[in-house]
Amino acid sequence: MAGGTRTAKLLLCLIVLLTDIEGAISRSAAQRCFCGVTGSLDDCTCDVETIDSFNNKQLFPKLQKLLTTDYFRFYKVNLNKPCPFWTDNSHCGLRDCAVEPCTLNEVPDGIRSGSHKYPSEASEDAEECERAEKLGAVNSSLSEETQRALRDWNTYDDEEDRFCMVDDEESPDSDYVDLLLNPERFTGYKGPEAWQIWNSIYEENCFKPLTVNRPLNPLATYSGGNEGRGFYNWLEGLCVEKRAFFRLVSGLHSSINIHLSARYLLEDSWFGKKWGHNISEFQQRFDEKLTKGEGPKRLRNLYFLYLIELRALAKVLPFFQQPSFQLYSGQAAQDQENKELLLELLHVAKSFPLHFDETLLFAGNKKEAAKLKEDFKLTFKNISRIMDCVGCFKCRLWGKVQTQGLGTALKILFSGRQIESLPKSPGAQLPFQLTRQEIVALFNAFGRISTSVRELENFRSLLSKVHVDL
Ligand SMILES: *[C@@H]1O[C@H](CO)[C@@H](O)[C@H](O)[C@H]1NC(C)=O
Ligand SMILES: *[C@@H]1O[C@H](CO)[C@@H](O)[C@H](O)[C@H]1NC(C)=O
Ligand SMILES: *[C@@H]1O[C@H](CO)[C@@H](O)[C@H](O)[C@H]1NC(C)=O
Repeated sequence: MAGGTRTAKLLLCLIVLLTDIEGAISRSAAQRCFCGVTGSLDDCTCDVETIDSFNNKQLFPKLQKLLTTDYFRFYKVNLNKPCPFWTDNSHCGLRDCAVEPCTLNEVPDGIRSGSHKYPSEASEDAEECERAEKLGAVNSSLSEETQRALRDWNTYDDEEDRFCMVDDEESPDSDYVDLLLNPERFTGYKGPEAWQIWNSIYEENCFKPLTVNRPLNPLATYSGGNEGRGFYNWLEGLCVEKRAFFRLVSGLHSSINIHLSARYLLEDSWFGKKWGHNISEFQQRFDEKLTKGEGPKRLRNLYFLYLIELRALAKVLPFFQQPSFQLYSGQAAQDQENKELLLELLHVAKSFPLHFDETLLFAGNKKEAAKLKEDFKLTFKNISRIMDCVGCFKCRLWGKVQTQGLGTALKILFSGRQIESLPKSPGAQLPFQLTRQEIVALFNAFGRISTSVRELENFRSLLSKVHVDL
């Protein structure tokens, strides 16, 4: 069945392409976002349609259920670390802004990055800024009962194979946050500040060759530039590992943007807020023409990220199968039930027929491979530090969850031998460990990607009803 529809879609794409060449540009809105997003993915033996149906029908519902349990909803995080890379010059300030409206007078105009505003615009700005801060604030309320329970939760630790900077769980600045109370959605955080974050990730932390001095940035189309072609030429010259690294970052970026488009603040009036799909926001980010060809590639990178994290879940099964492993929250019967749900989910992950083959990575010359892996790790750690520079707290929270989750997935993928030896060494010093924080991040991060894949189906169907020529 899948084969038939796939062929049909490919044919459709081909026809559309040919029509395009003839100059009669009449693609539907849906085709313009999804035409290139079909068939097999580069660097792996999988195709989009298989992932869609596997995720949406089998995995997504179970994962959603799991993520509402106490073990997975409380994430310990330090949202108050200073940005280590640049002095924060965000026009909303940081820590206090969620409670206090920001005063623009505090910062001399000239210092604020690139803002040359007249007074009337400035006050509009202040309102906008205050609104954005409210939306971006993190609700850190926990019931007393929860707080007590959390104090009992035990943690493990393991420094060695980390791909991420992990917040010090003991730090007085670290707090538990209820992820269900703080869904990832539109916060109004955009413009130069948000731009700076992604810019420093792509420009300084994606293995861009030093010889390239012109900005080659996949974001360029957001700001009206036209660097996309050059950027992808550069990408093609990279080894598979560095290309993979870039694609993971791009996939993360896509996922975040899908969430912002799917949980857009559509209405904000005295009787409440309404969140929902904003098709034009989605098109701005993914439409082939509006993004000068980048959009479909971004979506393909999302699927790539999905495969990497899915593979990690499949591989980590033996760790969770250990009888001594508990999803400890203090309620024995519930904890046991949740563990069964978790194992069921991991078995589903394992059953996926077209897993990514991670032995493709770091497979070359041993010395080179070790060096590459080290670079990979350092760069990824650096990206997780950049999350401390995200000005909007809610975005920072989800940025941290997702980078730590991906970091944990990578740690798993490169600890295959240690994980396989787990059941055979009971009582001994365990060769592989995950902290509670890593576990929570891993599943919540995958939850985001899985939700994004699910949302694409919604956007596909919404776009098929749109008839506009942009
Ligand atoms: C945080 O969430 C709780 C529970 O839903 C709610 O009662 C409280 O008003 C929220 N606080 C803020 C600041 O939104
Ligand atoms: C880490 O990221 C910052 C900010 O983008 C950059 O300036 C720095 O060179 C990076 N450091 C490493 C070791 O990659
Ligand atoms: C949808 O997003 C666009 C920006 O892409 C914005 O201009 C528009 O107002 C949004 N629509 C609604 C209903 O909020």
